[in-house]
Amino acid sequence: MTPFIAPSILSADFARLGEEVDAVIDAGADMVHFDVMDNHFVPNLTVGPLVCAALRKYGIQAPIDVHLMIRPVDRIIPDFAAAGATYITFHPEASEEAARTLESIRGFDCKAGIVLNPETPLDVAEDLLGHMDMLLIMSVNPGFGGQEFIPETLDKLRAARRMIDASGRKIRLEVDGGVKIDNIGEIAAAGADTFVAGSAVFRSGDYTKTIAAMRREIAGVS
Ligand code: DX5
Ligand code: ZN
Repeated sequence: MTPFIAPSILSADFARLGEEVDAVIDAGADMVHFDVMDNHFVPNLTVGPLVCAALRKYGIQAPIDVHLMIRPVDRIIPDFAAAGATYITFHPEASEEAARTLESIRGFDCKAGIVLNPETPLDVAEDLLGHMDMLLIMSVNPGFGGQEFIPETLDKLRAARRMIDASGRKIRLEVDGGVKIDNIGEIAAAGADTFVAGSAVFRSGDYTKTIAAMRREIAGVS
């Protein structure tokens, strides 16, 4: 699958969010990662469907990858679909019946996925593969940007890659947390094809240069 780079808005300047998203897409990003936190499932509070809809209204056409770190998840899904989400992923602990939640996301013509925390074993995803378009492996504990990549994630990504390939299904393997220019090459080699990067992009002086350097690393050419 073509690699996707997805800057996380968590590290953007929220007062200028539309411009920031435009700038990273112009700089070569494939989609934008939209972190939704509820101060309950995770200890932080961010943004909801209104802000997603505002980005669409502003003119953002790139895919929006909504990462829900909220509990419960089911009630808010129609709102994110109406707000223009492209992907909607959630943590299975936050849903009573993950397969049903995945299918409800698909029912709104969005792409669906689950997110595994560093402590959550890969088996949790196995029975759900038939219902998902993306598997997101957290490489930090969710809640905050700017944390260090947990090195054990590389083995989990390799195992996830094998599991997805063995299923023969078209499922993106996304990684989220601590992804930087200097580790994205080995993360890609471990099997990820979709890379969330918050602070590494938005805190860099030059978005274009950073995203281009990431792409070179993913391709293994530097
Ligand atoms: C963490 C979020 C991430 C975060 C990544 O809970 O899910 O998307 O923004 O930020 P960096 O790339 O700075 O680790
Ligand atoms: Zn995220």
